[in-house]
Amino acid sequence: MPQIQLGLYMMSGSEAARSVRWALQAGYRGFDGAQWYCNEREAGKAIRDFLADTSLNTAGLKREDVHFTSKLRDNSTSYDAVRKSIRKSVDACGLGYIDLFLLHSPYGGREARLTSWRAVEDAVQEGEVRMAGVSNYGVRHIEELMESAPRVAPVANQIEVHPFNTQTAIREACDKHGIVVEAYAPLARGMRFRHPAIVRLAKKYGCTPAQLMVRWSFQHEFVTLPKSAKQDRLVANANVGGFEISEGDMREMDGLDEGLVTDWDPTDAP
Ligand SMILES: NC(=O)c1ccc[n+]([C@@H]2O[C@H](COP(=O)([O-])OP(=O)(O)OC[C@H]3O[C@@H](n4cnc5c(N)ncnc54)[C@H](OP(=O)(O)O)[C@@H]3O)[C@@H](O)[C@H]2O)c1
Repeated sequence: MPQIQLGLYMMSGSEAARSVRWALQAGYRGFDGAQWYCNEREAGKAIRDFLADTSLNTAGLKREDVHFTSKLRDNSTSYDAVRKSIRKSVDACGLGYIDLFLLHSPYGGREARLTSWRAVEDAVQEGEVRMAGVSNYGVRHIEELMESAPRVAPVANQIEVHPFNTQTAIREACDKHGIVVEAYAPLARGMRFRHPAIVRLAKKYGCTPAQLMVRWSFQHEFVTLPKSAKQDRLVANANVGGFEISEGDMREMDGLDEGLVTDWDPTDAP
């Protein structure tokens, strides 16, 4: 799985199409979509168009070189409804299969979560989806899924993680079960770019606050999903290979945790 992927939330179809093309040109190989974002169709088409265009795809990338994620909007106690919904996503993106399909949240209760998971497992076994995972799962939801003896193990839990919300308890539960943490809102939506510690460390490393936060996420070995619909920003955000945050500074950034929630927090849903 590519470690830095472009987030596609809050992009119109045309913004997603443009951003995906810029991102592929800049070296991104992963895209984080969702049914909810209403741009699976445009994002998938932009990937296919890029791959087919020899003037853009100078590296000769193939479908299997690009990783596309989507997510189930609503868990359901109807197995058939979920299976149908997954097929709709596969058809919409037109990529033949979805690399990683996640349950977007734990909402809906235990029965809906486990029924939805069963449908995702079958989508994996039938080749519509390559890997399966969850999102916004709290510790209790992870344990519930693992205790249900899943036929397909979840590979990822996508949660909000950045220096201002470090989610140590959920990360520990993920580690225990070998589940990769995908960090959403890695830039904390830009809400802390002017925080004195971020400004000082960005200056020290000669990078932007956004690059500092992406690098923090990268060094923690999260799959990190910065979003930008602007070409210069999305190019710069992924350009974090030229410096390394020291152990001490990583610890200082870890210590900025204030439980900041930038969007929603379903991790304690019943
Ligand atoms: N599973 C979930 O429930 C869930 C929830 C939220 C997000 N996500 C995923 O995670 C991705 C990232 O999260 P996010 O979009 O909420 O937040 P984010 O990536 O932390 O921040 C995105 C915001 O920061 C701005 N930005 C980006 N680069 C910047 C830069 N270099 N300088 C200044 N501003 C910059 C963007 O504006 P511009 O676009 O104008 O640059 C946008 O407003 C989403 O796109 C989505 O794929 C998942």
